[in-house]
Amino acid sequence: MQINWKSPSNIALIKYWGKHGVQLPNNPSLSLTLREANTTTSLDLKKKRSKKNIEIDFLFEGERNDKFAAKLETFLASVTQELPWLTKNRLVLRSENSFPHSAGIASSASSMSALALCLMSTNRMLTKTPEDDATFLRMASRLARLGSGSAARSVYPGFTVWGKTTSVKNSSDDHAIIAPANYHADFNELQDSILIVHAGEKSVSSRAGHALMNDHPMAAQRYKNAHARLKQLLDALKHADWQLFCKVVETEALELHALMMTSDPSFILMHPNTLAIIERIRFFRATTNIPVCFTLDAGPNVHILYPYFAKKEVRNFIQSELLQFCVKKKVIYDQMGDGPSMLL
Ligand code: DP6
Repeated sequence: MQINWKSPSNIALIKYWGKHGVQLPNNPSLSLTLREANTTTSLDLKKKRSKKNIEIDFLFEGERNDKFAAKLETFLASVTQELPWLTKNRLVLRSENSFPHSAGIASSASSMSALALCLMSTNRMLTKTPEDDATFLRMASRLARLGSGSAARSVYPGFTVWGKTTSVKNSSDDHAIIAPANYHADFNELQDSILIVHAGEKSVSSRAGHALMNDHPMAAQRYKNAHARLKQLLDALKHADWQLFCKVVETEALELHALMMTSDPSFILMHPNTLAIIERIRFFRATTNIPVCFTLDAGPNVHILYPYFAKKEVRNFIQSELLQFCVKKKVIYDQMGDGPSMLL
């Protein structure tokens, strides 16, 4: 039997940065699920060939990838209690990304959520558990979280929230949920254009990055800020308050980088071209009044967010003013997505 899932990446607007225990977040995060950047994964169960506890054959884009296979083995070994069939079969996994590996946006969110969904579907077939779709997705989100925190948010469409916070009913550290559905229609098809400033590997891994928060002198204030900004962002989404939206989203991105710059050891992950793009976006917004803002991951590439109704003007602006700052003029045009899909 073969199970196939396609699952998207997401971009956090309120950032998850810092964790404790077994992959539990130190603060709540809110993200936008993307449409174009995704991973397709297939899972086949075969007869075991060895006595290894977890036996996997992993092909990434048709080629063996032992480094990632080792990561997967560690993750799978940690969930054998709830998925005991993992130790009784050889897992043949094939994975492909929709975006080029060299684009610098390689995402554990899409790959780990696709894997978690494959595992949950397989489990459903083997154990014949008739859980409803909501339960299925909640369990997949939890499993994805154990693989990579941000992956917990990718199993849902649109805006999602992961981490307990008083402004969102039913929010949980255990799994992500869909954000309150009362956001303004202006945000439907929210655009995210990813400007590739640097296409290499990350210079600080997520694991090392989160650990920097453990003794960070600003940690307590940072966690408070995340709760408060998440609430503000929900208000901005509800009332189509673009000014507030831009302010909150940009402050979050800059705070993430400020935290890294002031960590011990310290990391400066923005490049000169990252700053050049940020300056142009702010100038463009101030002079045209078009709601457009930026966010950043733990790296130099810039995500530009804007409403569908401003697509033409912002795309023209990107083409005429910002391509000069990108590696090989590379931009990935993405937008709000519908979440994962099972492929037959
Ligand atoms: C800056 O989800 O990659 O992108 O749980 O260690 O796999 P792990 O970390 P990961 O961290 C993502 C950090 C971030 C912000 C975010 O996506 O919320």
